[in-house]
Amino acid sequence: MSARTGGGTMHGAVLGAVMSLAPLCLTSAIRAQPPQAPAGVTNVQLAWQNWVLNCQGCHRLDGSGSDATAPSLAGTVAKFLWAPGGREYLVRVPGVATSPLSDADLAEVMNWMLWRYDKEHLSSNFRPFTAAEMGPLRSRPLRLEAAGMRSDLLRKAEASGPP
Ligand code: HEC
Repeated sequence: MSARTGGGTMHGAVLGAVMSLAPLCLTSAIRAQPPQAPAGVTNVQLAWQNWVLNCQGCHRLDGSGSDATAPSLAGTVAKFLWAPGGREYLVRVPGVATSPLSDADLAEVMNWMLWRYDKEHLSSNFRPFTAAEMGPLRSRPLRLEAAGMRSDLLRKAEASGPP
């Protein structure tokens, strides 16, 4: 009986240690981001924290995603801006449109994300997303049509190249 109780306590202690490590990992991930300022981002640190807390669960810290969660943004995401309707698509995908972030914070995460994961495909005439632009697009989140729209836009972007 006492051995059982001892086992239980031990288990609790290990679980407690693991639980207390989780926020530490997140904190060091948040601190790891270098302080650079892409267009349309006033607070890089905040944009990175918002990404870590709201987006990376599906998209991963390096934007690579996974088969089970989300397609890779790395080296791709800015290409959507090359195709008509691509800018709207980027904000209307459910993960963006229904995020708990405010319009202002979300616009900054979007600008930060484009720069962080795909700056090589950002065209020189890129207009950063604004808070005012977010509301009307977020009010029309995509549902099942997202996947078809995604491949259609990517095909058009690849065919046309940058503007
Ligand atoms: C629950 C998982 C999940 C979360 C959380 C999530 N996304 Fe996504 N995201 C996806 C999936 C899946 C797609 C592919 C389109 C679709 O089917 O919705 C996607 C697509 C996108 C796209 C369009 C680019 C593309 O390749 O299709 C952008 C931009 C994006 N997400 C940004 C974000 C941002 C910014 C956040 C945080 C505010 C976020 N996502 C949170 C799963 C997620």
